[in-house]
Amino acid sequence: MAQKSPRPLVAGNWKMNGTTAALKEARLLAGMLKDVRLKCEVMLCPPATLISAVRTVVKGARIRLGGQDCHWNANGAHTGDISAEMLKDAGCSAVIVGHSERRTDHGETDEIVRRKAEAAHAAGLIAIVCIGETLEQRKSGQTLAVISRQLKGSVPAGSTAANTVIAYEPVWAIGTGLTPTTAEVGEVHQSIRRETDPLMRILYGGSVKPANAAELMAVANVNGALVGGASLKAADFIGIIKAYA
Ligand code: 13P
Repeated sequence: MAQKSPRPLVAGNWKMNGTTAALKEARLLAGMLKDVRLKCEVMLCPPATLISAVRTVVKGARIRLGGQDCHWNANGAHTGDISAEMLKDAGCSAVIVGHSERRTDHGETDEIVRRKAEAAHAAGLIAIVCIGETLEQRKSGQTLAVISRQLKGSVPAGSTAANTVIAYEPVWAIGTGLTPTTAEVGEVHQSIRRETDPLMRILYGGSVKPANAAELMAVANVNGALVGGASLKAADFIGIIKAYA
């Protein structure tokens, strides 16, 4: 029997962007998706304050919802934090953990990221675990070693293709307009594949745009995209989704 390949996922990470005015973009996207024969899953990860409202405006559209972070505990005295269970209750099916911005801004280590992924699994959410090298690490030839170390440290043992997605996001490509060559992307994705389930989705993230989405999608073991800036405008995000449709 032929090996099934993972169903691609295109997820939009709005980061700390968006007030109620941004609901217009979610509504537009829902409308645009009506005319697309989708071969990928589509997800929006708005800021926590907008999850419920986005859920309402995209109702009936093929758009899943994700959180951008969760605490490693299910509840308790953690002012300002959000649990995986709360995200699930708000309508999310996934949560991003270990984004490089959280690793940098909040000092999150691989161990913290792994505990967050475990909390996501316990709540019935897909953990989208982010990994990626800095420019210094790439320049000094450490990329594959860094990726391997982050994978081992951040992805819980026993993770499955059903409850975990890996997102490879080179830190230097995030929000910079720079992207690795397709050969560089292919090399890293192949090395991640060697350490993961054949059906686990491995997303590429970092300056994905409508103009480069198709060539990135064509790289072996790239099973979708995690999109930042270009997910904020429905017209751009649909251009990326169509490359995967
Ligand atoms: P950009 O698409 O803005 O580079 O951001 C990528 C990212 O960090 C998605 O999580």
